[in-house]
Amino acid sequence: MIIASTQRLILRTLDESDLDDLMNIWGNPEVMRYSGGAGSREQEKKALTFYIRLQTEKGYSPFGVIDKESKELFGVCGFNPPSDLGAIELMYHFAKENWGKGYATEAGKACIDYAQQQGITDKLAAFIDPANHGSEKVLRKLGFQYEGTAFHQGSGQVEPYFVYHF
Ligand SMILES: CC(C)(COP(=O)(O)OP(=O)(O)OC[C@H]1O[C@@H](n2cnc3c(N)ncnc32)[C@H](O)[C@@H]1OP(=O)(O)O)[C@@H](O)C(=O)NCCC(=O)NCCS
Repeated sequence: MIIASTQRLILRTLDESDLDDLMNIWGNPEVMRYSGGAGSREQEKKALTFYIRLQTEKGYSPFGVIDKESKELFGVCGFNPPSDLGAIELMYHFAKENWGKGYATEAGKACIDYAQQQGITDKLAAFIDPANHGSEKVLRKLGFQYEGTAFHQGSGQVEPYFVYHF
């Protein structure tokens, strides 16, 4: 299912056939450096199954980000279930060769618009590793505001978090 079409990108729901492309992202240690590390194919297959089910049951999930020109899936951007903060989390991971081209901001904006149109939630949250300056910049550009620090189960550490209020 297509979620959004932006100037350069298509966002669509994930399916089982995306596992190879996802391994370029979730299986890459550099990409996942601030997100709990790279996963094995087996782990990411389970994650994909979980996310496909999340989409069916709740109407949100991480979406595949496709380059309109090449048709390649080179990123994921979308939503994780409520975390320790009690709010649905915005997440984004892109293959390294595509960093620094404005894709995270473009895809993140499309996800926020989708959440608003679908009435999924009244606020979004995002934890960041304090060393992940790129991610903090994306959140601020998207209109998230710093709210404090809290324990993040995903990383096992206390981290700053940002919130977007609709
Ligand atoms: C973090 C990440 C999503 C940023 O994606 P991106 O497509 O490069 O981001 P954008 O191009 O939209 O950049 C937005 C702004 O952040 C800046 N930025 C991007 N990476 C940066 C970095 N490493 N350090 C400092 N600023 C950075 C850009 O210059 C841009 O600012 P500008 O508009 O003033 O020029 C990408 O690097 C990535 O996928 N990293 C690995 C996964 C990850 O860490 N995800 C977040 C987990 S919380």
